[in-house]
Amino acid sequence: MEMARKVILDVDPGVDDALALSFALFHPGLDVVAVTAVGGNCSPAQATRNMQAIVEGLDPPRLPRMGAASESEADSGRPAEGRGLYGPDGLGGADLPVAERQHMLPAEKVICDQVRAAPDAITIVALGPLTNIARAFQRDPELPSLVGRVVIAGGAVAVSGNYTAAAEFNIHCDPVAAQAVFRSASTKTLIPLDVTNRITLSYDLFNQLPDESTRVGALLRKILPSAFRGYRQRFGIEGIHVHDTITLMAVLYPELFMAQEMAGNVETMGELTTGMTVFDRRRIPSRQYNMEVAMDLEKEKVIEKIIRGLNSAAGREEASAE
Ligand code: BDR
Ligand code: CA
Repeated sequence: MEMARKVILDVDPGVDDALALSFALFHPGLDVVAVTAVGGNCSPAQATRNMQAIVEGLDPPRLPRMGAASESEADSGRPAEGRGLYGPDGLGGADLPVAERQHMLPAEKVICDQVRAAPDAITIVALGPLTNIARAFQRDPELPSLVGRVVIAGGAVAVSGNYTAAAEFNIHCDPVAAQAVFRSASTKTLIPLDVTNRITLSYDLFNQLPDESTRVGALLRKILPSAFRGYRQRFGIEGIHVHDTITLMAVLYPELFMAQEMAGNVETMGELTTGMTVFDRRRIPSRQYNMEVAMDLEKEKVIEKIIRGLNSAAGREEASAE
């Protein structure tokens, strides 16, 4: 078997992020060296708490380093209520228990340390606003060329936004950070709404999840109903999108995604367009291609991988009890 890929998961949990974590922490193809928290679906403090509660609750075979979210300028002024889709605490009021914590390093420090410890070998999977990644790049200017790849859940190429008419949520939360990451010398893959919106999971998902007696099953059965509620209320659909989990699928199974090179940028101050991603798709773009952008995916195969992965995650829980 191939060696597991080293990843750092940067998350703003978020039901979507929690689903991705449930998948990733038990997957034999991934070596999750660190999980770092960022404000987004909830406040930075709540994101740190949620991350810790999810990781501890799932109790994976190998405990990743954890990095704490800090307040960001982009966060001030954002109402705690109604940020994301999953209620003010990000997890639909799940109130998961968390152990008292010894000191946790700031997320950007953990990212810098882990990338430095394994140059060119780490994939950063950015599932929230790009605040931490931009800070890590600022703190250590060589870092962009030392990361293997940054895979980003966010943006929209030819579809409308999901938070404002123009902007996708993660990019909208911290457009300045997103722009800095887009412009950095790192190798990037973007997984925009154009592909993630193509999959809607219906209530039938509950029949396919691992059962209540498993840690993954119990967590997901507890938090997923709030996501269905959010999607019904905000978007009027009877189903959920799982942007973050699909992004993880692109890391694990790139062959199921069709990507092309593009020149991408972020609008940081438009009245109607703050956080909008802009791609120069002219035949001769005025800027160089700076990222690979997924524009299509093998829908049925990706869904099957998600369901299968969650069930084998639950099956692998025992390993961590040893
Ligand atoms: C992103 O926003 C949040 O709702 C999800 O966690 C995902 O990362 C999708 O726009
Ligand atoms: Ca997220």
